[in-house]
Amino acid sequence: MPHYPPEPFRIKVVEPIKLVSPAERQAAIAEAGYNVFALKAKDIFIDLLTDSGTGAMSQNQWAALMQGDESYAGARSYFRLKEAVEDIFGFKHFVPTHQGRAAENILSAVLVKPGCSVPSNMHFDTTDANIRARGGRPVNLVIEEAFDPANPHPFKGNMDMVKLKAYIEETGPANIPLGMITVTNNAGGGQPVSMENIKAVAALYHSYNIPFYIDAARYAENAYFIKLREPGFADKAPIEIAREMFSYADGFCMSAKKDAIVNIGGLLAMNDDEIFKHVSNELILREGFVSYGGLAGRDLDAMAVGLYEGLDEDYLAYRLGQTAYLAGLLREQGIGLIEPPGGHAIYLDAGALLPHIPHAEFPGQSLAVEMYLEGAIRACEIGSVMFAHPDQDTGEMIYPRLELVRLAIPRRTYTQSHLDYLAESIGKIAKRAGDLRGYKFTYAPELLRHFTARFEPL
Ligand code: F0G
Repeated sequence: MPHYPPEPFRIKVVEPIKLVSPAERQAAIAEAGYNVFALKAKDIFIDLLTDSGTGAMSQNQWAALMQGDESYAGARSYFRLKEAVEDIFGFKHFVPTHQGRAAENILSAVLVKPGCSVPSNMHFDTTDANIRARGGRPVNLVIEEAFDPANPHPFKGNMDMVKLKAYIEETGPANIPLGMITVTNNAGGGQPVSMENIKAVAALYHSYNIPFYIDAARYAENAYFIKLREPGFADKAPIEIAREMFSYADGFCMSAKKDAIVNIGGLLAMNDDEIFKHVSNELILREGFVSYGGLAGRDLDAMAVGLYEGLDEDYLAYRLGQTAYLAGLLREQGIGLIEPPGGHAIYLDAGALLPHIPHAEFPGQSLAVEMYLEGAIRACEIGSVMFAHPDQDTGEMIYPRLELVRLAIPRRTYTQSHLDYLAESIGKIAKRAGDLRGYKFTYAPELLRHFTARFEPL
């Protein structure tokens, strides 16, 4: 019997995938320099590199595309999106952007000045980089529980209120042009933030007159976690919970490629009239006119529909159920992961599975490569390849606390038998974990090296 609510949809269009032979996989990964980012999608059977832009649109979204109004200014598509954004998020102003990082870029261009600080629970890497690119300092103040993979805390994405208050006092509110929170906390295992925490964070920022922005990429999954786990929300619809979450904020930036289930798109919204004026000017400079922001009219229509579909309760029960189901299959085989499982992804504890491979030989990379060799599965290392860096003063290598491999689940894309296949393949690897070897770089750029590095097995 299935262990999660059956898919609340049936399949009308199929995209063939093919399991290439073990010899072909061996050749493909060697040619890719043992970096899964360099693999060709045609050689991959199950692709869990990201849940961003990789979901399946619904018949209503495809139908909405046909209504796309490609007028340069004031298109009907823009007004349909505006209605949805105002209904769900409730801010006075908004602009579309081509994806999340474009919204972050514009927000940073307008608010971040050299030397200032922007606290959050944890910034995603593009937000972090956009703040740094403007000379700002991104600061992560998530609760300590987030760093213990076994800790079952229901809201491991929460901000540490004591650390946040101390940080604001130390830095001075004048040096903090905005405060943020990421829902769900992707960089920390896809963990949700509670309503109580969002409310407290907003109150604290506001007590210092600091504007509060939410990075809302996975707003719907966060709302559903609140419904499932936070007292007082069991009877509320996800859309009502989402409305309350955003009612405490002054604005948000968002990648619509996640919970709005579109292949491209983003949003930036705020209440402040002056900020909106600056944002509009930046948008026109970098993305496009205020009524399309770098997207085609049809993309705006698909987003307007997807924003609601992402909040559908049957869909969310299936979605979070699917992730929990995969976590259960892995747990049964004794494979360690960040607990409780996040909404959009499972984070395998590669460090625990491969204790014989030191940080410097990249246990997460070894597991990611082995998953490709075993099952033509693509997943993403989130460990020393991504994060190890030399100390600025001593030059000594600093390694991340956890060596993880993220299995990000695209929305409405894979079925239960795909998940069974995944769990079986990973189980086979776990049985021969002691045979896995580490890797060394043959090429590594200085920044964001995981994208283009090349490796050699040791
Ligand atoms: N914020 C969060 C929390 C994200 O997870 C992402 C993207 C972004 C912002 C940036 O959005 O890609 O549309 O520019 N996360 C993807 C991932 C890439 O794989 O987790 P974008």
